[in-house]
Amino acid sequence: MTHHRLLQIGPITPALDAKLATLYDIHPLWQEAKPAAFLAEHGTEFEGVVTHLRHACPAELLAALPQAKFIVNFGVGYDKIDLAAARQQGLQVANTPKVLDGCVADLAFGLMLDVARGLSATDRFVRRGDWKTSQRPLMTRVYGKRLGLLGFGGIGQTIARRASGFDMDVRYHSRKPVAGSAHTHMASLIELAQWADFLVVACVGGPSTRHLVSREVLDALGPQGILVNIARGTVVDEVALVAALGEGRLGGAGLDVFENEPHVPAPLLGLDNVVLLSHIAGFTRESRRDMEQLVCDNLASYFACGKVLTPV
Ligand code: GLV
Repeated sequence: MTHHRLLQIGPITPALDAKLATLYDIHPLWQEAKPAAFLAEHGTEFEGVVTHLRHACPAELLAALPQAKFIVNFGVGYDKIDLAAARQQGLQVANTPKVLDGCVADLAFGLMLDVARGLSATDRFVRRGDWKTSQRPLMTRVYGKRLGLLGFGGIGQTIARRASGFDMDVRYHSRKPVAGSAHTHMASLIELAQWADFLVVACVGGPSTRHLVSREVLDALGPQGILVNIARGTVVDEVALVAALGEGRLGGAGLDVFENEPHVPAPLLGLDNVVLLSHIAGFTRESRRDMEQLVCDNLASYFACGKVLTPV
């Protein structure tokens, strides 16, 4: 173990928690009965923070760590970290990009296929014994359709590559066009939603993207359109989404993320045109292993040269 004293906000994975404890002088904040009192007394001891995408890193917590130089986050999404406060305090922030893009892209297709073809709904139909007396309704195909991507970073671009195997026409909306991409950038999200059969949310969470998928965007996607969200629940106005689905103004939705996890709006539970998952897009043995390694590599890089490997 090195003498570097690090604050870990909450549990990450059992394997990584154990490994970090052998490498650094790690303090598990979640085991403190009174975290604020602990930080008031010991906050100056910590050189940096290790955290997980689900644990909050608010400004007050960071302010109690005046000697900290970095936050290393397990997760590509860092919306639970107060980035503005971290930047103001001069903290380097690292996430785990790229290593889970493929698994998240796979799950986006899993959700598109499930909602469009009714896989989960048909599974329930068979288990109920309904096949003996009735037939499922005709559903809609995925290949050859129009795919709109909200966000065109590593995950969006991986989804676009997968889409070529489905002969899909792909366009995207992001703040700026991505240089060198063959896909059409659309400056208006509403126009992208009007054009698309499937709208997949693949952008960052946090204040900059809150409720970008509004009632107007959902109405533009329309009664035949399918929304898939594998990014963050906050990007979609969930009240507007529940209303659009309930009123038949939207064709269906595949949701891996929600505004207030693990709370899922009750009206969605009874809808067969909605597939509900529990934030599992990056949840494979392979991506977990690679994310664990990248957390360790970010820490090693900081202590070797003063810079994290994958800064936000
Ligand atoms: C998953 O949601 C991640 O941010 O890594």
